[in-house]
Amino acid sequence: MQRACSMMNKTILITGASTGIGAAAAKHLAPGNTLILHHHRTPITAAAEAAKAAGARVVYTAQADLATEAGCQSLMDAVEACANHLDALVNNVGALLERHTVDTLQWEVMERIFALNTFSAMMLTQRCAPLLRKGTSPSIVNLTSIAARHGAPTATIYGAAKAALDSFTRGAARELAPVIRVNAVAPGVIVTPFHDKYTPAERMRAFEAETPVGFNGAPEHIATAIAFLIENTFTTGETIDVNGGLFMR
Ligand SMILES: NC(=O)c1ccc[n+]([C@@H]2O[C@H](COP(=O)([O-])OP(=O)(O)OC[C@H]3O[C@@H](n4cnc5c(N)ncnc54)[C@H](OP(=O)(O)O)[C@@H]3O)[C@@H](O)[C@H]2O)c1
Repeated sequence: MQRACSMMNKTILITGASTGIGAAAAKHLAPGNTLILHHHRTPITAAAEAAKAAGARVVYTAQADLATEAGCQSLMDAVEACANHLDALVNNVGALLERHTVDTLQWEVMERIFALNTFSAMMLTQRCAPLLRKGTSPSIVNLTSIAARHGAPTATIYGAAKAALDSFTRGAARELAPVIRVNAVAPGVIVTPFHDKYTPAERMRAFEAETPVGFNGAPEHIATAIAFLIENTFTTGETIDVNGGLFMR
């Protein structure tokens, strides 16, 4: 009977690992593991150095725009060049991209939001599955959002894209069972570069006031949930809410 898998000697691919939650996950998952850290525009050097200092066995890096199918394929080419198997895939990339209302929606904007937040994780799931099947207690963790749980005005399409990923998580968990587990983490308001462009400081303070624990989250709060889902072999098809109580089921 498998109670938990060892968190050592794993090969883990983390997308969007140069900043925020992805960088925190890289550091938290580093000890004893081989990491493949994907990045896009933000340089990966600092996150890679932090992962090495935290005890990663080896750190590979790969750059790609995951909002396109060609970008997902180029990441997979890089992954296959450095690893013959994967034990975990953390589908972390995502962004609000732009705020809008239902009245001002445009097709092109909807496509971009879904491509980055939903299609990239779906495509990487499909492309990584053969490598994961060669891994030990393999699993996938998707990053969804509190925005998928309740209406988030001006982030409606982003929330819908994350809700689609939430549903995909359960479908993939059934299809890829019993070998690959598929889970998700739905963060609440986490202080990362995510909010720099689209959430004014007064709105961040208002979130704090609305949140039962009284503060906004740190990327490390999400990194520990990701680690739990990789480690716990009896959990699949689950989305864990980590939001300080801002949304309760
Ligand atoms: N922070 C929150 O409050 C919060 C709440 C709920 C859910 N989430 C989700 O948590 C995940 C991590 O977010 P975060 O807060 O850590 O934000 P973040 O620091 O902005 O990280 C997002 C990552 O996605 C990458 N990315 C963006 N566009 C990309 C593209 N076209 N191709 C490849 N990579 C791209 C970014 O890389 P570059 O910077 O190099 O472009 C960055 O590393 C996201 O999926 C987000 O939707 C965050």
